[in-house]
Amino acid sequence: CGIVGYIGNRDSQSILVEGLKKLEYRGYDSAGVAIVTGTGLAVKKAKGRLAELESRLHSEPLAGTVGIGHTRWATHGKPSDANSHPHTDTTSKFSVVHNGIIENYAELRRELAAKGHVFVSETDTEVVSHLIADLYQGDIVKAVSEATRHIRGAFALAILTEHEPDKLVAVRQSSPLIIGVGDGENFIGSDIPAILQHTRNVYILDDHEMAVLTRSGVELMTIEGNFIAKQLSTVDWDLAAAEKNGFDHFMLKEMHEQPQAYRDTLSGRMGEHGIVSLDELGMTDEAIAAIRAIHIVGCGTAYHAGLAGKGALEKLAGLPVETDLASEYRYREPLVMPGTLLIAVSQSGETADTLAAVREAKRRGALILAITNVVGSSLTREADHTLFTWAGPEIAVASTKAYTTQLLAFYMLAIHLAEKRGVGERGRLAELSRELQQLPDKVERVVAGSAAVQTMARRIAQAQSLFFIGRGPDYAVAMEGSLKLKEISYIQSEAYAAGELKHGTLALIEQDVPVVALATQPALLEKTASNVKEVKARGAYVYGLVMEGHEALEDTFDEVLTLPATDPLLAPAISVVPLQLLAYYTAVERGNDVDKPRNLAKSVTVE
Ligand code: G6P
Repeated sequence: CGIVGYIGNRDSQSILVEGLKKLEYRGYDSAGVAIVTGTGLAVKKAKGRLAELESRLHSEPLAGTVGIGHTRWATHGKPSDANSHPHTDTTSKFSVVHNGIIENYAELRRELAAKGHVFVSETDTEVVSHLIADLYQGDIVKAVSEATRHIRGAFALAILTEHEPDKLVAVRQSSPLIIGVGDGENFIGSDIPAILQHTRNVYILDDHEMAVLTRSGVELMTIEGNFIAKQLSTVDWDLAAAEKNGFDHFMLKEMHEQPQAYRDTLSGRMGEHGIVSLDELGMTDEAIAAIRAIHIVGCGTAYHAGLAGKGALEKLAGLPVETDLASEYRYREPLVMPGTLLIAVSQSGETADTLAAVREAKRRGALILAITNVVGSSLTREADHTLFTWAGPEIAVASTKAYTTQLLAFYMLAIHLAEKRGVGERGRLAELSRELQQLPDKVERVVAGSAAVQTMARRIAQAQSLFFIGRGPDYAVAMEGSLKLKEISYIQSEAYAAGELKHGTLALIEQDVPVVALATQPALLEKTASNVKEVKARGAYVYGLVMEGHEALEDTFDEVLTLPATDPLLAPAISVVPLQLLAYYTAVERGNDVDKPRNLAKSVTVE
């Protein structure tokens, strides 16, 4: 989502809309503004393109010099006028725009509704405007500070009230927010592009910080209201660099966003007893008990997530799982027995092949569960139940954070089904749930250690072809690593089950052919090591990916990349990341258009 705020002496409507336009590249499904006009606080919002909001503002302009605006990428609640931001309270005196996720919104909503607050949207954000109104006693800064003590989760908020029309309040907790400093005017932005045409002087808020903007100045304080001093930074990016947050490409930015995407996807999904719970799916215990078999479909990267998901579901939930490419499933006359759950995986939720497979499965009587990143997408409308990945908008064609959060969705689902079906050992499910919570920090370390991968990429960029090998979950990751490399580096590459090489493909191994061997599975290490010896004996140059604690394997490989250790079942969520980085740096080395690879589209809506 995108946030802008303005306080000054100019017409705020046009400044807010221009700011929102600069955030268009991020993708959104609705937009809105709140402005203090001569007759009080006024809000205009619209589902769809910004042009929709603009035309509403054109026919009924809002005149005023202070306002907040938002572009929304739906999370809680489908895209609609009512679910768009800004949100207001029952008296329509307080308005709020929000990025992030309020974890305890359902609870807060119940409490506030009991006090007489009337809710008009399905969003988590709306509780914030009501909460602030509820706590307001003549000082908006105090009310905001107090409100943040009640809400749990991630937020960047901008708040405007008609009671104090010469003030804007901004507050941040785990979601980016910046304050632009001008001359007689000041700005709020979730991203630098939103304010770049007006000022290059910014305060970058840190977690737990709040800013109070007036026309003449900006006061910075902690969330508790203690004043702080902060360095004013100067932005020297041009607009293109600012859109990528200073990264060279969207793909690089999105890979770096993975720790946050993991946190968001896991957030609010831990149940009591420290075991993941997905009651949000709305699947009754009876419906879960009635599942006899699972079919998974997806295309491209989403299909690969399904391959990794299959292992976790079988191991934990004890159900037989088949995984198909969506384009194949539809025409293979799948046997959908009573009690079949079809899981459709799709970042966009709009892929035609996947939707066609869903319709076929439905026709044959399957229950449909969607795993997708886009609220309100076609897939969510056709599915019986939806599990969202909270990866945020993904712009690069080569999918990264969408894939890894799909893995997390599968792990959470497998734990949830195991617990509900009473098949898993609780201690084991709690251990995995705990381990899941560690993944954001671990993946952060992998992303930070990309220098080793860059060196590797310089060599691989010279190769004519290469191989990715692994067993079990490592094989699923090998397939995704290979696809990533093909998509953007255009190097011929094959993923092979390590044990299957000797049955044919070994014929292709010759002197100096690079092989990337994944060896994160303790139970399969010896076997994989023998396969590595087979390729080395034919001259291959082997890069090994191992988890910390298995350094003994180092002699097996020519070069080793050591990854933070995790439960072997969850290893793909860590081990795929260096492969994404490898594809990226190899493509950069070869001078390719990384974000827009030839012949490929982000979303394919034809079969
Ligand atoms: C396209 C993209 C792939 C993506 C696939 C499925 O082919 O280029 O990167 O994996 O579609 O997309 P979806 O939105 O369904 O996950």
